[in-house]
Amino acid sequence: MSLVNPRDTLLVAGGSVTVQNQKLHRWFNVLANETDISQSEFELDTNGREIFRDTHSLMYAIGSGHAGRTYLVRRGNSLFEAPLSYYSTPAKWDLSPGYESGEVGFSRRVDEACLTCHTGRVQLVLASEGNSSEQNGADFSVSCENCHGPGQQHVKERSAGIPILNRLRRAQPGVRSVQESGDTSIVNPRRLQEWLADNICMSCHEASSTRVLRPGKSFSDFRPGLPLDETAVIFAIRSSQEASRSMPLQHYTSMVASQCYQASRGKLGCLSCHDPHSEPVDPASYFRQKCLACHADADCRLSLEVRQARVPANDCAGCHMPKRGLREISHSTLTDHRIVVRSDEPYPADAIAQSGTVFGSLVHVNAIPGQPDQVPAVTLLEAYSALVPENPSLEGDYNLALDRAATTNPNSASVLSKLGWRCYKHDTPDARIRAIAYFQGSIARDSKSAADYSALGDLLLKSGRSEEALVVLRKGIALDQYYPRSYKLLALCYIALGQYKEALDAMRQALDVFPEDSSMRNLLRRAQLPQ
Ligand code: HEC
Ligand code: HEC
Ligand code: HEC
Ligand code: HEC
Ligand code: HEC
Ligand code: HEC
Repeated sequence: MSLVNPRDTLLVAGGSVTVQNQKLHRWFNVLANETDISQSEFELDTNGREIFRDTHSLMYAIGSGHAGRTYLVRRGNSLFEAPLSYYSTPAKWDLSPGYESGEVGFSRRVDEACLTCHTGRVQLVLASEGNSSEQNGADFSVSCENCHGPGQQHVKERSAGIPILNRLRRAQPGVRSVQESGDTSIVNPRRLQEWLADNICMSCHEASSTRVLRPGKSFSDFRPGLPLDETAVIFAIRSSQEASRSMPLQHYTSMVASQCYQASRGKLGCLSCHDPHSEPVDPASYFRQKCLACHADADCRLSLEVRQARVPANDCAGCHMPKRGLREISHSTLTDHRIVVRSDEPYPADAIAQSGTVFGSLVHVNAIPGQPDQVPAVTLLEAYSALVPENPSLEGDYNLALDRAATTNPNSASVLSKLGWRCYKHDTPDARIRAIAYFQGSIARDSKSAADYSALGDLLLKSGRSEEALVVLRKGIALDQYYPRSYKLLALCYIALGQYKEALDAMRQALDVFPEDSSMRNLLRRAQLPQ
């Protein structure tokens, strides 16, 4: 991630770019001047007059630009994605991934996970507070400490001239020492066991699987050299290999499906082939050298003559690690990391189950080798909960996980919230009463979810308890003013209480925050018509 540089006029040739989306009935525009690059979303009526226009300055850019860049804006103390991204091939601005589906505007919040993977450690706090205006030019990209761990101790010891060899035998009690030798004040991934070094890479890569924090952890708790599993659990869906013929699995899960990995007993790791400090000038010969660390050229059954005749010549990876065609801004893999004899080789049955421990329909990909694997019921529940919306077939597993977590963690805010949502879906008087109790429970236990507040508000409103609903909805908005549904319910609540002026105010407030919300605009227009 980097600060947006307004002088980066390359991106906005001519100072302004406009994109129309027919389906959404919307226009978007990128505007650059000496001091600022901003994006607007607007809508035009049949006479070409603007119905609304929402404009925000771009603050950060995410992405090296190989595939493209996504931009972040700051609203209050939070960061949000901008509706347009810059795509490199073909070079153009277009809707950010996922924005085609509806009125997203500038209200898709950028979460901690997103920043953990795309920024350096030190800058994380600053960035998440959107607090950077004084530091023009600062580099917010992935930093040394993301892979080498905190550097304080290292700077202290090297400045004090403490000899490296003396430190070798000093085991620190209570700290699991994972570095085998060398300068132990800093982590050198090369000296870690392969799986621990892979864990560093997987703290950011393997992005399209689901990762769930262990209870009480945050993403920034991960330290290179310690097992990632102590902080976050990465799950893959066991059956997703069906789709893998057309879409390769993620880097780690496919790598471990390779003969190279299995027959070398885990000696193959990300660092067998990659050195993050240098981008190979001649990839074919660079990666060939890596293969030849374990293979002889003659291991290849295709004749050298045929291999040399290709361009690039004798490109081992080019033939044995086939690529997918398209480059797009997404978190999907481009190069298949399952090293195969022939590129059309199907994945072996249940390959993904072999990359970790199986829990029902999920595979725990970053399980610690050789240790009994424990995943708390609440962690499994969070995983299913994140996956169910796009994988309806996991509904049954989700419900089982919820029932289990309800017995193991009956007082967890998140479990109570999920029990609430399950009842909320059945709109019967009895389910409503139970849903109210669950949501009250989750909120009493400090739920930070604006959705919980609005669900509770809705249930209370439907039960004729408008005064209580009002209190809950206002608290929800105070907690998170960027959740659209809260305002709609608040307006309905005021109407139920006969407070029409306040209802209109709530609608106007909603349009201030979400100018793109056309249903709210229609509601307000109708409410303002003379009765
Ligand atoms: C688990 C870590 C992780 C999370 C969470 C994550 N990303 Fe990424 N993202 C990556 C990695 C690693 C890449 C590099 C792509 C690859 O795997 O080859 C990437 C690539 C990208 C790219 C393309 C960059 C390029 O150079 O072309 C964009 C844009 C992006 N991410 C935006 C986001 C946004 C916005 C979020 C949050 C809403 C997010 N990412 C969340 C790890 C993550
Ligand atoms: C994406 C992960 C990553 C980042 C970011 C990173 N490094 Fe490294 N670094 C590594 C890995 C992996 C190695 C081992 C490379 C090898 O031996 O092939 C390494 C090796 C080194 C070495 C060599 C150590 C030795 O004993 O030879 C130094 C010095 C170093 N890194 C310093 C830095 C500094 C300074 C930064 C920030 C500017 C940085 N690294 C950023 C992953 C990273
Ligand atoms: C803190 C997060 C983070 C860590 C840790 C990390 N990466 Fe990355 N990596 C990224 C992001 C983000 C990108 C996408 C490039 C960008 O946006 O600058 C990337 C890109 C890459 C690329 C593609 C480079 C390109 O030009 O397309 C490779 C290869 C890679 N990383 C390997 C590794 C390896 C190997 C490790 C472990 C030693 C590692 N990374 C650790 C975040 C990370
Ligand atoms: C850490 C060591 C290691 C590295 C690095 C490595 N391999 Fe392997 N590879 C093996 C072992 C061990 C086997 C299984 C025994 C054999 O066939 O030699 C294997 C098997 C293979 C096979 C046969 C696979 C099958 O399904 O039968 C191919 C093809 C292959 N490797 C290609 C490559 C290529 C290409 C590279 C570089 C991109 C590479 N390997 C890097 C260790 C490695
Ligand atoms: C056997 C060698 C090998 C191993 C092991 C390996 N990679 Fe790669 N990786 C490659 C090659 C080859 C490419 C394609 C590079 C190119 O086209 O320039 C690549 C590309 C990538 C890219 C760029 C995006 C893409 O898919 O092309 C990322 C990110 C990456 N690898 C991450 C990883 C991670 C994380 C690991 C460990 C889990 C890993 N790699 C292990 C050889 C390897
Ligand atoms: C032009 C594509 C191409 C290139 C380049 C290439 N290979 Fe192969 N390789 C193949 C094909 C095709 C086969 C299977 C041949 C057969 O079964 O008749 C194969 C087979 C193999 C095997 C499996 C042997 C076995 O016992 O089944 C290994 C290992 C291997 N290659 C390694 C390598 C290494 C290492 C390099 C680089 C030095 C390399 N290949 C370069 C296409 C290629």
